[in-house]
Amino acid sequence: MSLANKNILLGVTGGIAAYKAPDLVRKLTAEGANVRVVLTDSASEFVSPMSLQAVSGNPVHQHLLDADAEAAMGHIELAKWADILLIAPATANTMAKLAHGLADDLLTTLFLATTATVYIAPAMNQQMWKAPATQRNLSVLETSGITMLGPDSGEQACGDVGTGRMLEPLDIVRAISVPRNQELAGMNVVITAGPTREPLDPVRYISNHSSGKMGYAIAQAARLAGANVTIISGPVALTTPPGCQRIDVITAEEMLNKAKAEATNCDIFIATAAVADYRAAEVADNKLKKSSDELTLTFVKNPDILATIAALEDGPFTVGFAAESQNVEAYAKDKLIRKKLDMIAANDITREGLGFNSDDNALHVYWQTGDAELPTGKKSELAKSLLSLVATHYKNKKSG
Ligand code: PMT
Repeated sequence: MSLANKNILLGVTGGIAAYKAPDLVRKLTAEGANVRVVLTDSASEFVSPMSLQAVSGNPVHQHLLDADAEAAMGHIELAKWADILLIAPATANTMAKLAHGLADDLLTTLFLATTATVYIAPAMNQQMWKAPATQRNLSVLETSGITMLGPDSGEQACGDVGTGRMLEPLDIVRAISVPRNQELAGMNVVITAGPTREPLDPVRYISNHSSGKMGYAIAQAARLAGANVTIISGPVALTTPPGCQRIDVITAEEMLNKAKAEATNCDIFIATAAVADYRAAEVADNKLKKSSDELTLTFVKNPDILATIAALEDGPFTVGFAAESQNVEAYAKDKLIRKKLDMIAANDITREGLGFNSDDNALHVYWQTGDAELPTGKKSELAKSLLSLVATHYKNKKSG
């Protein structure tokens, strides 16, 4: 993507890396971009508005309640002007405010008011980067469709060594100039995500610990790769990734019905949902009472959604998931063959901090003629690697 004539709003926040902002502005303008700078109060302690005005050729915006600045270009106008909002450096404090929707200064207000593509280049001490609160905020921002640039690792201004350095200005310019990976442009991708809930009576159900995070991460990555994405979602506490369509369901039978309806116009079907294998043979009309010491319920098998879709004539490319606690490879391959899938991604759920209801995962992907181990890490990163594999194998299958 060329940056020529792109309107870039550069938000500079208060960290030592703010001294690199003039160089970043110069490199952006050298690519032909129109740059306007928004400086937070603390950033102005590290870099002067005058130097940023000189290199950008535009007045620097600093305060929300500045009558003169508002008269020249109001903050809503500024938010609409931007094609790209780039926040570099972004401190831990700014990331926290953005993640929680606070709008107590000009930059955070613009973030809420803009529809521009947002990039954030964090910069902070390595321990602050690792802090659980920062990692939670990072996860919220990524789930909202924001692209993070870095941070880099190495020696820091405070003398520590670790992750938290802002990417170099040239790397930032390159990252936002690279066309978004559009490997799935125009394709229809349907993803099942989260758990299903199978009722026992009006107040009780059986379910599992799936949070939907893996499926939603894949949905977001597929959308960024250009796909039209539909998520068929069990009950989860996640926001829908921008640009994705979401169909909410509760039970496996509802998920099957929606999956069959969506499969008619689907190129790739990815089943990350942890579907309850059984449901109660009869759902009690009234709350079950504690009338005896034991309770015996009869369960019947739920339909297999993924196998049903994989069996369709001219059906989509199918990708299954397998959460296994033993014999991971053997069980995953068995599901690949038995359900007649194109691919299966196996997670070993005995590994602490990975798999169900966590932000990280490790996946080993199998197909009929090969396999690949993806690097352990954030579900958002794994989603991108998995989709690259899926795109390659989908194209190979189509070309015979
Ligand atoms: O949601 P998270 O908290 O992020 O956790 C992600 C995950 C661990 C749930 C996910 O990565 C995962 O592994 N999902 C599959 C869980 C599983 O155990 O699947 P299974 O072995 O029961 O089923 C194999 C495949 O068939 C899966 O693709 C499943 O969606 C599908 N299936 C299973 C049963 C059924 N009745 N219908 C189905 O479609």
